[in-house]
Amino acid sequence: MTSALQSTRVSPAGLAALAQALREAGLPEEDVALPARVFYAFHLDGQPIGYAGLEAHGSAALLRSVLIATQHRKRGLGSLVVGEMERLARDSGIESLHLLTTNQAPFFERIGYLPTPRQLAPAEIAETAQFKSLCPASASYLRKTLARNSTAGDGTAWQ
Ligand SMILES: CC(C)(COP(=O)(O)OP(=O)(O)OC[C@H]1O[C@@H](n2cnc3c(N)ncnc32)[C@H](O)[C@@H]1OP(=O)(O)O)[C@@H](O)C(=O)NCCC(=O)NCCS
Repeated sequence: MTSALQSTRVSPAGLAALAQALREAGLPEEDVALPARVFYAFHLDGQPIGYAGLEAHGSAALLRSVLIATQHRKRGLGSLVVGEMERLARDSGIESLHLLTTNQAPFFERIGYLPTPRQLAPAEIAETAQFKSLCPASASYLRKTLARNSTAGDGTAWQ
């Protein structure tokens, strides 16, 4: 299954479809066209299965908009998509990923994300729209430090 998973960067023309999918899933979408965000559409054997995004702030990034279409859930695809996002982040020089979730903390914990008090978020993450306004105050904050990658890029690949 892994080899058939493909990620494609969402172009400006694809942002409306992304925003609609996020809206339908109850995830923040108001800011998808703003700078510092990059989104990927995922396909399995040519079929669209979901999305995920990164919002970079220095060496930290929000992992956001992780969305697997309902009919494709509970097959390990969400874990694969997050793993691919971690690879893309690491290759861009990101050292830690941060996320907010209202109801998927157990999923992220299972794949290595650490539940953390919100006040311990780095300042650049605490200042994001997701932290300040788009996500409810009750959302859980989780973080993961990415292992170093000796083949990492120069950090400007997609910013
Ligand atoms: C969160 C989300 C991305 C997970 O996607 P997914 O494809 O279902 O993820 P996985 O299949 O890798 O794992 C989900 C569960 O299925 C289980 N699972 C994985 N493969 C399985 C299989 N073959 N058979 C049975 N269960 C399986 C996993 O153990 C996991 O259990 P857990 O949630 O208790 O940890 C998906 O539920 C989603 O899109 N939710 C709505 C959007 C959202 O809330 N996103 C997070 C905020 S950014």
